[in-house]
Amino acid sequence: MPHRRASIVSPSASAIFFKMRIKLIGIGVLSLLAAACEQQTPLIDQQKADLGSLLFFDTMLSEPQGNQSCASCHTPSAGFAAPQGIMTGGVAHGATPTLFGNRNPPTLAYSQFSPTPQHYDAAAGTIVGGQFLDGRAADLAAQALKPLLNPVEMGNTNSAMVLAKLQARPYVNQFTNVFGNDVFSDSTNAYAMIGQAIAEFEKQTSISKFSSKFDAYRHGRATLSAQEQYGLSLFNGKGNCASCHPSAGEFPLFTDFTNDNLGVPKNPANPFYTQSAAVNPDGVNYIDLGIGAIVDDIEYNGKFKVPTLRNIALTAPYMHNGVFTTLTQVVQFYNTACAPGNPDGWAAAEYPATRNCRELGNLRLTTDEIAAIVAFLQTLTDE
Ligand code: HEC
Ligand code: HEC
Repeated sequence: MPHRRASIVSPSASAIFFKMRIKLIGIGVLSLLAAACEQQTPLIDQQKADLGSLLFFDTMLSEPQGNQSCASCHTPSAGFAAPQGIMTGGVAHGATPTLFGNRNPPTLAYSQFSPTPQHYDAAAGTIVGGQFLDGRAADLAAQALKPLLNPVEMGNTNSAMVLAKLQARPYVNQFTNVFGNDVFSDSTNAYAMIGQAIAEFEKQTSISKFSSKFDAYRHGRATLSAQEQYGLSLFNGKGNCASCHPSAGEFPLFTDFTNDNLGVPKNPANPFYTQSAAVNPDGVNYIDLGIGAIVDDIEYNGKFKVPTLRNIALTAPYMHNGVFTTLTQVVQFYNTACAPGNPDGWAAAEYPATRNCRELGNLRLTTDEIAAIVAFLQTLTDE
C-alpha cells in the first residue's frame, strides 16, 4: 500500500548515531576524512546522564516524599512505561495514590527521536514531533520538568519545593559538580538543569536499545518464524500499519511522529472521570482533544502523536486512554472499527468528527492474519 505521507524522518544510522570523524591536518592542507566508523553510542555526557539517572529514580523528589519517581510510571522492566501495579482503569496514580491523570503513560524509550519542537511539516502535511502524546513539550529537557509539578503526578507545588528537596539529597554534590558550585544561586536555571540531566539520562542507548529480535533479523543475526515473517508482510501490506508506524530502514522507530484520530472509544473505566472538579471540571463528559487543545485548531481535535511500537508487548494497556488491554484487541479494532454495520460492536469514538476511516478500520484481516501481526509485534521487544 502506498505511504500516504512523505517520510519525514528517515532514521538512518547517520541520523541517529554519532558518526565519528577524524580530522587530518596536513602542512598547509586541511584534509577531512569521514571515518566509516559507526558508533552505536550517541554523543552523551556520561556524568550528566549518571546524575540524570539518580534524579529519575529518586522517590524523595515527590510530594509526599518517598512516594513516586519518574521510574514509578516509566519502569525499565515495563518497557519504560507504567507497571501494572500502579495502573487503574488504564491510567497511573500519582504520588498521592487517590489522584489519577487522564492519560495512559507511554514508553519514554525512543522518544528522544521525536522532532523538536512540535511544528508543521510541509512534506508530511501535518504537525509532527514534540514530547507528550499531544507534543506540548518541546523536548526531553522541557518535558522532564512537568511531572514534578503536576498535581496528579509527582505533586510538588512549585519548583522551589523541588530544589529544596534536591539540596538535601546525598547526590547534591554531583549536581554542583556538573552544573557549577553556584548553580543554586539562580533558581530558574537550577530547575532547568534538572531537566537537562534527566534528558541526558533518557538519551542513552541503554534506554533506546535497538536490541529486539526484529533488529537482529534486520541485521542478519536472527530469523523470524514463518508466522512472524507473515505478520511483518501484513504489517507493511494489507494491514497498512507501516504507513504510520514505518518499519523500513536500518533503525526504524515504528512511528513517523505525525498524528491521527483512530476513533478510539472513551475508556469508561478511567478513574479520571470521577476525579474532583479541581482535577477534572468536565466530569464524565470529559473529552480528550489531544493535539487540538494545544494548537487550538479543531482540525487536530482528537488527534494524538503516533507512538512507537518498540517494546509494545511490555506496555499494555494501549492508546492514549488505555482503553485496550491486549494487542489482539488493538489489531481487531484496526480491522473492523469502520466496517459497515460495526460487526464487532465498537463503542462510539471519543471524538468522532476527525476520525480516520480512510487508512484503517476495514482491513478484512482473518483471525490468522491478526494473530500473525500480533506475533510480529512481539518481536519488537528489546533484550
Ligand atoms: C504518575 C505517572 C507518571 C510519572 C510519575 C511520570 N510520568 Fe512521564 N508520562 C506519564 C503520562 C501519563 C504521560 C503522557 C502524558 C500526556 O501525553 O499528556 C507521560 C509522558 C512522558 C514522556 C513523553 C513520551 C512521548 O512519547 O511523548 C516522557 C519523555 C516522560 N513522560 C518522562 C517522564 C519523566 C522524566 C518523569 C519524571 C520527572 C516522568 N515522566 C514522570 C506518566 C508519568
Ligand atoms: C493512520 C495512522 C495509523 C495507522 C494506519 C496505524 N496506526 Fe497504530 N497508532 C496510530 C496512532 C495515532 C496511535 C495513538 C492513538 C491514540 O492513542 O489515540 C496508534 C496506536 C497504536 C498502538 C497502541 C500504542 C500504545 O503505546 O498505546 C498500537 C499497538 C498500534 N497503533 C498498532 C498498529 C497496527 C498493528 C497497525 C496496523 C494494523 C496500526 N497501528 C496502524 C496511528 C496509526
